[in-house]
Amino acid sequence: MSVPQTHTGRVAVVTGAGRGIGQAIAVELAARGATVVAVDLAAPNETVAMIEEKGRSVVGLTADVSSPEQTAAVGKEVAERFGRADILVNNAGIFPFRDIEELDYKTWRRVLAVNLDSQFLMVKAVLPTMKQGGWGRIVNLTSNSIVTNAPGLSHYMASKMGNIGFSRGLANDLASFGITVNAVGPTLTITPGVINGHPQEALVAAAQAQAIKRNGLPEDLTGTIAFLTSDDAAFVTGQTIMADGGYAR
Ligand SMILES: NC(=O)c1ccc[n+]([C@@H]2O[C@H](COP(=O)([O-])OP(=O)(O)OC[C@H]3O[C@@H](n4cnc5c(N)ncnc54)[C@H](O)[C@@H]3O)[C@@H](O)[C@H]2O)c1
Repeated sequence: MSVPQTHTGRVAVVTGAGRGIGQAIAVELAARGATVVAVDLAAPNETVAMIEEKGRSVVGLTADVSSPEQTAAVGKEVAERFGRADILVNNAGIFPFRDIEELDYKTWRRVLAVNLDSQFLMVKAVLPTMKQGGWGRIVNLTSNSIVTNAPGLSHYMASKMGNIGFSRGLANDLASFGITVNAVGPTLTITPGVINGHPQEALVAAAQAQAIKRNGLPEDLTGTIAFLTSDDAAFVTGQTIMADGGYAR
């Protein structure tokens, strides 16, 4: 089946695009015709290769999205290369398990910085050119863990609630520029980050708790994000969609 070319001519910046959910989003938006700017801590070579293999357009950039300087540099580079960014998917995130007894301030700050500050910083980095274009789509990744009672993740849940509050507030500020802002929450999804840090029982329990009783895959998010970043979603803003197999229901 051919992929609908809903994103032709768009420039889409995707953070945390080197692997996992971010990689799947980058590949999908490129397949739909967008020129993708894949941003990650280390050069996202695998993602770039996957997109180029299909004859699609992509640039890989290296940046820590919690850094004001490095995100500003991404914004500058995108503006210089393409003149604008139309789409921003703030996907980069970390989820180290710590219960409150073992959670130290440094970890708390790092999780808030990578998961929440990054979304603010990336918006600031691309907003000037996005506004000029008079059209924009911002999607901020949150998590269904804010409503599904995940243990050992108070810091993460605080950041992911923040992603929703930020998205709602930003929707107010940017509507008059033709820019929509929405949040998307995955369920426990099989990605390198999860495989490295979650016990098998957690995956089994998540699948059982969902209406759709299998674990999420990165590709389970891409249709929702493609819709929210398309023309079709022009009247959808300030929303949170849990694309989570019906866990939060
Ligand atoms: N996988 C899940 O079960 C799940 C569930 C709910 C929400 N989420 C959210 O989805 C997003 C992606 O999760 P994933 O499972 O694909 O993670 P992952 O660990 O598999 O991949 C995350 C990517 O983000 C990059 N990254 C991390 N910190 C960064 C930084 N400071 N600057 C730039 N890049 C950085 C990593 O290098 C990596 O390539 C996160 O926001 C996460 O909170 C994931």
